[in-house]
Amino acid sequence: MTIRRTVLKVFMAGAVAATLGSGAQAQEVVKVGLILPMTGPFASTGRQIEAAVKLFLAQSGTTHGGKRLEVILKDDTGNADATRRIAQELVVNDKVAVLAGFGLTPLAMATAPIATQAKIPQIVMAAATASITEASPFIVRTSFTLPQASEPMADWAWSNGIKRVFTVVTDYGPGIDAETSFANKFKAAGGTVESVRVPLRNPDFAPFLQRVSEAKPDALFVFVPSGIGAQFMKQFVERGLDKAGVKLIGPGDVVDDDILNGMGDVAVGAITTHHYSAKHDSAANLAFVKAFEAANPGVRPNFMAVGGYDGMRLIAEALKATNGDASGEKLITAMKGASWESPRGPITIDPATRDIIQNIYVRRTEKVGSDLFNIEFATIPQVKDPVKARK
Ligand code: DHB
Repeated sequence: MTIRRTVLKVFMAGAVAATLGSGAQAQEVVKVGLILPMTGPFASTGRQIEAAVKLFLAQSGTTHGGKRLEVILKDDTGNADATRRIAQELVVNDKVAVLAGFGLTPLAMATAPIATQAKIPQIVMAAATASITEASPFIVRTSFTLPQASEPMADWAWSNGIKRVFTVVTDYGPGIDAETSFANKFKAAGGTVESVRVPLRNPDFAPFLQRVSEAKPDALFVFVPSGIGAQFMKQFVERGLDKAGVKLIGPGDVVDDDILNGMGDVAVGAITTHHYSAKHDSAANLAFVKAFEAANPGVRPNFMAVGGYDGMRLIAEALKATNGDASGEKLITAMKGASWESPRGPITIDPATRDIIQNIYVRRTEKVGSDLFNIEFATIPQVKDPVKARK
């Protein structure tokens, strides 16, 4: 029975390959639809992830579980309606076995119903609002969650004498997650928090920074999505806050490795908690950074790149584990509990939540020679998303 079913499946797979016009190749293709913001304000996220996915395939080859992985890259410009339409087309027309990418929370959320309906794995390589993995049983995440990165910041701040904090976050899922997870933990410890949110599109930090400069809190906690940190830092300097003794803290998105070097000395001394620094001290990371920079001269990999690199590895290893069976349910089962040493450190896909368990590092932004880096000086090992861990 099992054998007959297998024979039938192989035969049908051959028929599908023939109708797609790829019958000339002996090897069956498994398609991955990679949807990223390649243009618009969040293009840096798209570029980083695309480069990392390409690097993974260049290093490990495209054949996994006897199948050839083929990546179809599409630009959603950071627009959720576009992501939804592209995901639908990739499923219906291109017959992709996996959807991947998702540079922003609204883009991941817009695709979740399609993944559920088509029973296709949706690998979230970037978006980081905690609730995303609950939007579909077919979502698996290789990035991080904002509460995972932000709660450790509350512990660090309180135990380092910080008592009064202003928070400024981008006003959507991940920003609200960062603000509430930090504020709840910090207030529970005894601290006070005042909070402001700024819009995702064309944020103006100036009025808020004016208030901060008058109130002089001990620290300013900031979350802005990857790629936006430089804009924030510019206004921070323009208000003279770099000289006013207000400590800059937060999850690591604001000191994103992709743009950190362009920020200048203002970033020096910022304390952030995050899952990846290009200066993470391990052989695996040294090799990753070296290969990434060789393939992309002048670009340093950031935490988005590592989410893309591990996301592609997750797909490849799942296909290997199923012996090339690309049915969605089998791939998801294979992904649950997957574990390896990433450039960021040891990671595991939590089988209960499909979210990632990883180290969170406390880092200080420092000058190394003439370059700025986030230097890790403490490790909180194997952190689960705290929102789901409490449920
Ligand atoms: C999200 C986007 C980012 O660029 C980031 O750094 C964190 C979270 C998001 O939209 O989920």
